[in-house]
Amino acid sequence: MENNLPKHIAIIMDGNGRWAKHRGLPRTMGHRAGIKSVRRVVEACVAMKIPVLTLYAFSVENWKRPKKEIGLLMRLLSEFLEKEIDEMNEHNIRFMAIGRLEELPDFVRERLWKTIQATSQNTGLVLNLALNYGGRSEIIDATKKIVQNVKEAKMSVDAINEESFSKFLYTDGIPDPDLLIRTSGEMRISNFLLWQISYSEIVVTKKLWPDFDRSDLEKAIQEFQSRERRFGATEAISRK
Ligand code: IPE
Ligand code: IPE
Ligand code: MG
Repeated sequence: MENNLPKHIAIIMDGNGRWAKHRGLPRTMGHRAGIKSVRRVVEACVAMKIPVLTLYAFSVENWKRPKKEIGLLMRLLSEFLEKEIDEMNEHNIRFMAIGRLEELPDFVRERLWKTIQATSQNTGLVLNLALNYGGRSEIIDATKKIVQNVKEAKMSVDAINEESFSKFLYTDGIPDPDLLIRTSGEMRISNFLLWQISYSEIVVTKKLWPDFDRSDLEKAIQEFQSRERRFGATEAISRK
């Protein structure tokens, strides 16, 4: 298990609403239970010394949800960051966030900023939250920055390649996910990390996010370790 661990695990945390519905509870209770799951999975990643964990918490499409649910999600997120900041520092966790953060409510942006600042010197797990995130928006945002640079003659058209393009994405500096997990059984990507998952191993579990625990994470990692990663070649290659 300890050998060949993924360097970056990305998770589409799905199924909070269904978890609550099965119990006759409001969806909001599912989101509260989902936060407990986040804690469990973060702790497990710290214990396993996984370098990067990216959690899909709110997509650009999630604004289509009822205002009340969006409001609760934003409050829960901000409360979570406030409560966990000391623990993040204790566990040497560096917090970061990706997405169109500038469009988030002020109280959330302030809390994000504080958490990023307060944990910036930590060298353990990078906990990366995808918030108001969309894979297509990210690619568009990168393209705009590149075009601007070309216009200002800071970059030549010939210098645009996969490596330089990646540097304009929100995920600059972090490796592509080796393992992508989605809970609740849906077989779709829902606009998550479109560029970065080109060669990620995908594991979909039927477990709903609030029920996802350490053993489910370990199972997903074991499944990842059993795969032969060929990256287009005829036999297994290991990639940095
Ligand atoms: C995932 O659970 C959490 C967020 C998208 C914020 P859902 O809220 O999508 O739960 P289901 O898919 O409706 O069960
Ligand atoms: C994906 O879940 C987004 C997050 C987990 C934040 P959704 O529940 O929003 O995705 P769809 O609607 O099932 O594709
Ligand atoms: Mg869902």
